[in-house]
Amino acid sequence: MKAIVYEEFGSPDVLELKEVEKPIPESNELLVKVHATSVNALDMIFRTGEKKLFGLTKLMTGFKKPKANILGFDVSGEVESVGKKVTKFKKGDLIYGAKGPKPGANAEYCCISEEHAAIKPSNMTHEEAAAVPDTACTALTGLKEKVNIKEGQSVLIYGASGGVGTYAVQIARLFTSDVTAVCSTDKINNAQALGAKTVIDYTKEDFTQNGQLYDIIFDAVGRRKISYSICKNYLTENGIFVTVDLETVLFKQIRNKHIKSYLGNVSTESLDFLKEQIEAGKIKSIVEKVFPLEQLADAHRYYEKGHLKGKVVINVLE
Ligand SMILES: NC(=O)c1ccc[n+]([C@@H]2O[C@H](COP(=O)([O-])OP(=O)(O)OC[C@H]3O[C@@H](n4cnc5c(N)ncnc54)[C@H](OP(=O)(O)O)[C@@H]3O)[C@@H](O)[C@H]2O)c1
Repeated sequence: MKAIVYEEFGSPDVLELKEVEKPIPESNELLVKVHATSVNALDMIFRTGEKKLFGLTKLMTGFKKPKANILGFDVSGEVESVGKKVTKFKKGDLIYGAKGPKPGANAEYCCISEEHAAIKPSNMTHEEAAAVPDTACTALTGLKEKVNIKEGQSVLIYGASGGVGTYAVQIARLFTSDVTAVCSTDKINNAQALGAKTVIDYTKEDFTQNGQLYDIIFDAVGRRKISYSICKNYLTENGIFVTVDLETVLFKQIRNKHIKSYLGNVSTESLDFLKEQIEAGKIKSIVEKVFPLEQLADAHRYYEKGHLKGKVVINVLE
């Protein structure tokens, strides 16, 4: 099968198109004919081999050489065969989900655990569905599992325009109408269309200067752009700052109940919940650009420029 392979850590130049063996599913896995996959922050960590979480990520990515030679976590495609312990899926099912802990979806076929897959939303293309798993489940884990967002709460989504952020605005809106989105100028209309009641253009206005307090401030940017110390005076008495950046608050959150972080969890339960919302027209994918598999290196360069509107997707069938 065709796959994009990397044998050393480095820039997108390390990604090469090769013919490799088709994978064989373990007993709990599905062999999936990949129609589309998408680019995530985790792919950058695996490709560069950079140390995150105090070096713990090296256990997954490899120390001197990559442990996995094919990148790609998100997948949307068709089940080709199933391992003998798989009960929820059968050959021919159209599924979406995510690989983990090892990547491997930047290929014509990949294997994923049935625990990380669900039937694809019927009203989405494979490209739209492949945008969902990692980033939408990260937004859902943060807002629902970590801070239990409730009706009536005021929520600010910082970084409302990227992969995690576009889903976070829509997921927050499922639970409360008081959603404020923070993004740059050319993403304002998009944030409004996704359901934000208020949109703040961070290039013109500082949300900490408008006198508003929030029950939840969700940092969907990470990369140390904001912090609890910046946000603490703009939280209500029981307000919580929740961030996608686990590294910066790993120890602080133990001592302070107003700070939370986490790793996103892609489970069948979360994907089924998202499918229901997607099919009800309450959540959609914003796909900024689609690349064919052969141009994965260009897709990584595009992702790394930042300031995306939604997701970068890879069409594997093209
Ligand atoms: N904890 C987890 O399990 C987990 C899982 C997935 C991702 N992540 C993390 O989540 C973060 C977002 O990932 P992503 O794939 O959604 O990234 P992305 O698509 O690149 O989105 C990041 C967004 O941040 C905004 N931004 C950049 N600089 C900003 C600034 N100074 N102020 C406000 N907004 C700014 C950009 O919007 P504008 O164009 O409007 O500036 C951009 O759209 C990353 O740090 C990633 O590592 C964590």
